[in-house]
Amino acid sequence: MNDNKVYIFDTTLRDGEQVPGCKLNTKEKLELALVLEDLGVDILEAGFPISSPGDFESVTEISKLIKNTTVCGLSRAVLKDIEVAAEALKPARHKRIHTGIGTSDYHIKGKFNSNRADILERAKQCVKWARNFVDEVEFYAEDAGRTDNEYLAKVVEAVINAGATVVNIPDTTGYCLPSQYGAKMAYLRNNVPNIDKAILSCHCHNDLGLATANAIEGVINGARQIECTINGLGERAGNTSLEEVVMIIKQHKDLGYYTRIKSEQLNPVSKLVSDTMRMPVQPNKAIVGANAFSHSSGIHQDGFLKSAITYEIINPTEVGADTSKIVLTARSGRSALAYRLKNLGYNFNRNSVDIIYAKFLEIADHKKEIQDEDLHQLAQQVEVTV
Ligand code: KIV
Ligand code: ZN
Repeated sequence: MNDNKVYIFDTTLRDGEQVPGCKLNTKEKLELALVLEDLGVDILEAGFPISSPGDFESVTEISKLIKNTTVCGLSRAVLKDIEVAAEALKPARHKRIHTGIGTSDYHIKGKFNSNRADILERAKQCVKWARNFVDEVEFYAEDAGRTDNEYLAKVVEAVINAGATVVNIPDTTGYCLPSQYGAKMAYLRNNVPNIDKAILSCHCHNDLGLATANAIEGVINGARQIECTINGLGERAGNTSLEEVVMIIKQHKDLGYYTRIKSEQLNPVSKLVSDTMRMPVQPNKAIVGANAFSHSSGIHQDGFLKSAITYEIINPTEVGADTSKIVLTARSGRSALAYRLKNLGYNFNRNSVDIIYAKFLEIADHKKEIQDEDLHQLAQQVEVTV
């Protein structure tokens, strides 16, 4: 394992597709799988083969198509699930079975009506079984975020001994604070004797808006894989958003990590996923939202026009977004107005801009945003009177 590389495990087609209304057919899944491979994801979770014949078919077809990326299939800690996942993954060049079971007392008692010792046995058994079919087995300790650390360490040690090559520590309910999630990773790194034989993975949900922060904190504390989705799609409030973790790692070179993701493709891929899954992206979404590179207040616009770095930490071309936008509202200033007029071919002097600005504010107080047509009209009025 390269110590500084963070593996990107994309689960848009599995956890992302669990979002109501985002269901994909095989053709749509194949199109997105190719795009995600080209984006540079290291592992692609293609689906949950036992869940339906359609998902089985999607995982098989993706396995035939994808060349370099590892294709992964989800299963429960159920022998039949694992066999079906292995069957669906058969054509894949690089394959991984992702199997696991709930390890928190909430799950052990509430879901399985079982006890810690039995769950530990089932965890070992499912990993051993999966290793009969593939070399790469990832174990997930569902609800690890709320699992007692001492017990979790025992489970992690046991599944690594049973042959797990990756161990996923999901914060399934999005409950953890970044400090708690980071401390959990550090605890595992320091207390599981065979931990160097597996990669630790972060799988964080966004119920408290902490999925991205938790995944990054997990990496800082020793994890080297992040499970994430395009646009942060996923069960309930969603998963860690791929574009956010990739750009945090890229912007914060001081952290010393890197991914293989081609960041210039992030916006086009986000748009394709949003269109295909019929799930709009909120305008203020980091990296891929429509407003991520828009400046509308006068103070920000003035600073940005003097030197972009004053208000932009990412160049939009780096993430494949359109150029930065200067949006005109009643909060905009003269320099933004002059800039937009200049872009439309008007070269007014300072006095004329002042005159236009007064008229502009009158209109802007009644309109949400001033468009190019409004500017043409304003400019023509002033051209006539000056
Ligand atoms: O959130 C979760 O725990 C999951 C597992 C199936 C990995 O999605
Ligand atoms: Zn999940």
